[in-house]
Amino acid sequence: MSLQQQVMEAFERRYGMRPDVVVRAPGRVNLIGEHTDYNDGFVLPMAINRATWIALRPRHDRVVRVFSLEFNDAAEFSLDGMEKTPTRWVEYIKGVAWALQNAGYSLTGWDGVIAGDVPIGAGLSSSAALELATARAFGSTSSFPWSAPIMAKLGQKAENQWVGMNCGIMDQMISAAGKAGHALLIDCRTLDSEQVPLPPGTLVVVLDTATRRGLVDSAYNERRAQCEAAAQFFGVPALRDVTDEMFAARAAGLDDLTRRRARHVITENARTLAAAEAMRQGNAVALGRLMDASHVSMRDDFEISRAEMDTMVDLAQQHPASYGARMTGGGFGGAAVALVRAEVVEEFVSTVGQRYQQATGLKPAIYVCEATNGAEVVS
Ligand code: GLA
Repeated sequence: MSLQQQVMEAFERRYGMRPDVVVRAPGRVNLIGEHTDYNDGFVLPMAINRATWIALRPRHDRVVRVFSLEFNDAAEFSLDGMEKTPTRWVEYIKGVAWALQNAGYSLTGWDGVIAGDVPIGAGLSSSAALELATARAFGSTSSFPWSAPIMAKLGQKAENQWVGMNCGIMDQMISAAGKAGHALLIDCRTLDSEQVPLPPGTLVVVLDTATRRGLVDSAYNERRAQCEAAAQFFGVPALRDVTDEMFAARAAGLDDLTRRRARHVITENARTLAAAEAMRQGNAVALGRLMDASHVSMRDDFEISRAEMDTMVDLAQQHPASYGARMTGGGFGGAAVALVRAEVVEEFVSTVGQRYQQATGLKPAIYVCEATNGAEVVS
């Protein structure tokens, strides 16, 4: 049974009537452009066919009641006087309600059932999917117009200020604005985005290493601080503004660690723009090479990979069906992404999966992904 059917049926069982509306918002995989978003740079993610779904019905008061099929857990809160409690799934919903109300939206409560198949902690943005599905849910009960950049920013605010994870804008933006069959080149300074098609005859494969990031917040915040220090050194608002010439002329004045952090971001921005151009030209070979180079930069300069991830990326790159592969997402575990020749994708999935398991003893989860639309009201 599809997740859409599951949330609809569970809604009827739980509340004794049919839901009014079903909304969904996708997870994402980033093809290239890692740790560039909070440096005002460029990213190239696509929304994937794994999503959070909510079946709901508006209420006549300011109460939100929701049941999560994934966690088999119910929660209820009032839109008046919301309080933070220790983080569990419902804090993402409350955080979005808080951000919307803070921005002046007047909200109506709802009863809902939620389910999702974005794996949690795999670097595929299950939290952004939940945030944007929640924004769509409130959008439908409280009738306000949908603007992808505005809703993405409010989702990010919920995550930064309510949940306490200091993420950039990429995940919320692609979950809000994704387009079927395309990746989006997003300028994280302006939030302008351009749809770029996947090269003909290729598929995007997500390879979850089955390792999970530990201590991710502190390492993430540390990278952000290092990038800010580097931008300050160059006297610019963000590393986005450092040109190759500036870097070549002045980088020697930076300590080795900060120089490598900055070099990752500066070269990654250039690779991301080049990757979008390769996609416009349908050039899978060029795109794949840029993905490979991105992995080296993340591994050696930004130092956000780990042994199992490097193994997965190596195995994917070595397979003849692969154009290129790299770690995707925040780092320290989670998933890799590979660009693969469509006609031999099954062989790729089984060989790389087996070899990874032999090498690490871990059982990977491998998903052949389709690029889908961003958050939407489905019915
Ligand atoms: C996480 C964050 C994003 C982005 C990536 C790294 O996914 O949520 O904002 O910074 O890491 O590219």
